[in-house]
Amino acid sequence: MPLGRLMQGKPHAATPGVTIGAPRTYELFGDVCFVGRRNRAFTRLAALSGAQEGDRVLDVGCGTGYLTRHMAARVGPAGTVTGVDPSPPVLAYARRRKQRPGSAPCAYQEGIAESLDLPDASFDTVVTSLMLHHLPEELRPAALREMLRVVRPGGRLLVVEFQPPKSRLARHLVHGGTAHAMAHNRVDLLDGMITDAGFEVGGHGEIRPWLYYVQATRPGE
Ligand SMILES: C[S@@+](CC[C@H](N)C(=O)[O-])C[C@H]1O[C@@H](n2cnc3c(N)ncnc32)[C@H](O)[C@@H]1O
Repeated sequence: MPLGRLMQGKPHAATPGVTIGAPRTYELFGDVCFVGRRNRAFTRLAALSGAQEGDRVLDVGCGTGYLTRHMAARVGPAGTVTGVDPSPPVLAYARRRKQRPGSAPCAYQEGIAESLDLPDASFDTVVTSLMLHHLPEELRPAALREMLRVVRPGGRLLVVEFQPPKSRLARHLVHGGTAHAMAHNRVDLLDGMITDAGFEVGGHGEIRPWLYYVQATRPGE
């Protein structure tokens, strides 16, 4: 059975999104896949988000809270960080994890990207990492529109996605080990999708070995 399947959670009544149900296996998989570079990659992503000290940050599809905790370290004790995910086991795992001294408090709540139970314009920075490919394609625009709704005018968005390897053999191996959505993830469509949701795209790039990111802002202010 592919490892991706082993990590999957139970179907969630509120979303067709594929949840993670085995947080420890997910963490082990994450550490192995980044071959010692995971911390460095996510520290860089937190910086690329443009979040400032004291920001109110939202992490959509936070999973085990790996990026959430990096965001908390970035915005410091005057900030706040909220992680949202539909999967109770990953949220329970994230709540148990220690944070670096001097970090913002992290709060975790159950929720879904395509219909966030959060007020309009209530965050300065929204991040989402490796979540969009867990949603069916037709729900991804709604999720991005929700991120636009909850970030304040002038606020920032960072979308991070899995960038499939270029070689066909490597893609085949990713497909066998995980799933079609990951092996054939169309990161080339992200900029357009984020623009269509109402954001202004400011930049994009790669973080080796696996990540593609897009930086955007909500117009206004
Ligand atoms: C590959 S994990 C990424 C977790 C974390 N952001 C990271 O970078 O390690 C994808 C996450 O998306 C969550 N997810 C699935 N459907 C979702 C939905 N409709 N809304 C928000 N998150 C969802 C899963 O439960 C899982 O935790």
